[in-house]
Amino acid sequence: MARSVIIPIAFLAGILLLVGVANAALNRIPIQRSEHFKRSHKNIQAERDFVQQKYNLNTVNGYPMEQLSNSDNYQYYGNISIGSPAQYFLVQFDTGSSNLWVPGSSCQDTSCLSHLSYNKTQSSTYVANGTAFSITYGTGSVSGYLSVDSVGFAGLIVKNQTFGEVTTEQGSNFAYAHFDGILGMGFPALAVDGVTPTFQNMITQGLVQNSVFSFFLRDNGSTVNYGGELILGGSDPSLYRGDLTYVDVIQAAYWKFQTDSIAVGDVIISINDAAIADTGTSLIIAPVSEYDVIAAIFNANANGLFECLNSMPDLVITINGEVFRIPAKYYVTQEGNYCMLGIQSINQNFWIFGDIFLGRFYTEFDVGNQRLGFAPVNSSDSVKIMGLWNLFFVACVVWMLNK
Ligand SMILES: *[C@@H]1O[C@H](CO)[C@@H](O)[C@H](O)[C@H]1NC(C)=O
Ligand SMILES: *[C@@H]1O[C@H](CO)[C@@H](O)[C@H](O)[C@H]1NC(C)=O
Ligand SMILES: *[C@@H]1O[C@H](CO)[C@@H](O)[C@H](O)[C@H]1NC(C)=O
Ligand SMILES: *[C@@H]1O[C@H](CO)[C@@H](O)[C@H](O)[C@H]1NC(C)=O
Ligand SMILES: *[C@@H]1O[C@H](CO)[C@@H](O)[C@H](O)[C@H]1NC(C)=O
Ligand SMILES: *[C@@H]1O[C@H](CO)[C@@H](O)[C@H](O)[C@H]1NC(C)=O
Repeated sequence: MARSVIIPIAFLAGILLLVGVANAALNRIPIQRSEHFKRSHKNIQAERDFVQQKYNLNTVNGYPMEQLSNSDNYQYYGNISIGSPAQYFLVQFDTGSSNLWVPGSSCQDTSCLSHLSYNKTQSSTYVANGTAFSITYGTGSVSGYLSVDSVGFAGLIVKNQTFGEVTTEQGSNFAYAHFDGILGMGFPALAVDGVTPTFQNMITQGLVQNSVFSFFLRDNGSTVNYGGELILGGSDPSLYRGDLTYVDVIQAAYWKFQTDSIAVGDVIISINDAAIADTGTSLIIAPVSEYDVIAAIFNANANGLFECLNSMPDLVITINGEVFRIPAKYYVTQEGNYCMLGIQSINQNFWIFGDIFLGRFYTEFDVGNQRLGFAPVNSSDSVKIMGLWNLFFVACVVWMLNK
């Protein structure tokens, strides 16, 4: 009996080893997906309001600001360590901002008390900085001061990473979030207080083979532990189909690039509009005038609500000559006879491609060449089926060994 248990584990370890050797240069961190995440009509509205504030813009055309907890919208996050010995935190890896922050142990606000906090007196690698730090998000803000310590994830440890140690969290936004803090992966130009972002320090400290990271987000995964992967140092071609289509970053702050066109079915909505790839947003956000054209196609009201149509067109995005197609089931949420667009507007002149887009298309963020690469994800179904085959294979080995 004992033998049949030990061998399959060794066998599985062998598989893992092979995978590890094949991608020796890549460091991976599993991304967890909120277990009960559901894109509901209520949280679509809440998120639009949240995104409005994240991009620090004025309230949209009379849309009400709602004091809704936004927790359901935070889909993807992963585990990092800060300090020595390691103190662990769940953070959202956010390409739409550039600072790292976590609650500090002196913070007594509800949002801090319901999360893990960093205690500097327990870390031998802590270095004081003390500069005031504040970021406004959603209906609230986080503020505190900067501290410096080692930060680790995906098997890499960055020394002397400056981050925000939060002492005040105002507003209810983060109280129920599944993660403790945010790790920004935007460009340095976007960083509050001129702090060098974590990935830039990884490059400078020679921790990654290439100055590239990539995201594989499983759009419809149901497991907590395999919502996707953040890969540091390159891309894993088994997670996408075909080749990556590259497009240059046009302004290295957000991950901003230019689309050729965006259409809903046959109706062209925009030509040459800029867009940003933002892992910290779940929706697709359009400029107001483009959104109005889309809303008219569906006869949707100001909140994006409409009576479901029998057949709904694909969202068709062309980038550097390549067509990226998103079927309606991914950008329309149905509740009874009512449908809501997962496309919303805020008052800015570029699009924000959140997880509705990034969940369909594997995305490489190439910091060194200042470009983005997109390719359709290798469907989650095939990954699932592959998992079943592995189990089946292991079961066969167990059975044979018991013979
Ligand atoms: C983060 O990783 C550490 C080390 O593996 C583990 O002890 C901790 O439980 C993890 N935290 C969460 C919230 O998963
Ligand atoms: C931080 O750690 C120190 C030393 O272990 C401990 O005395 C203190 O109570 C901790 N602070 C908080 C707020 O937990
Ligand atoms: C980190 O900071 C400490 C203290 O300021 C310094 O002694 C050390 O050389 C720094 N290490 C790196 C890798 O920058
Ligand atoms: C604190 O960190 C900021 C950003 O990295 C830096 O500009 C500043 O010089 C640091 N201040 C101190 C006192 O270390
Ligand atoms: C897609 O994933 C499956 C299972 O992991 C793998 O067998 C297949 O080769 C992948 N497809 C591509 C194009 O890499
Ligand atoms: C998500 O998965 C569920 C059940 O596995 C399926 O019914 C649904 O159609 C999927 N949604 C999308 C958008 O693929």
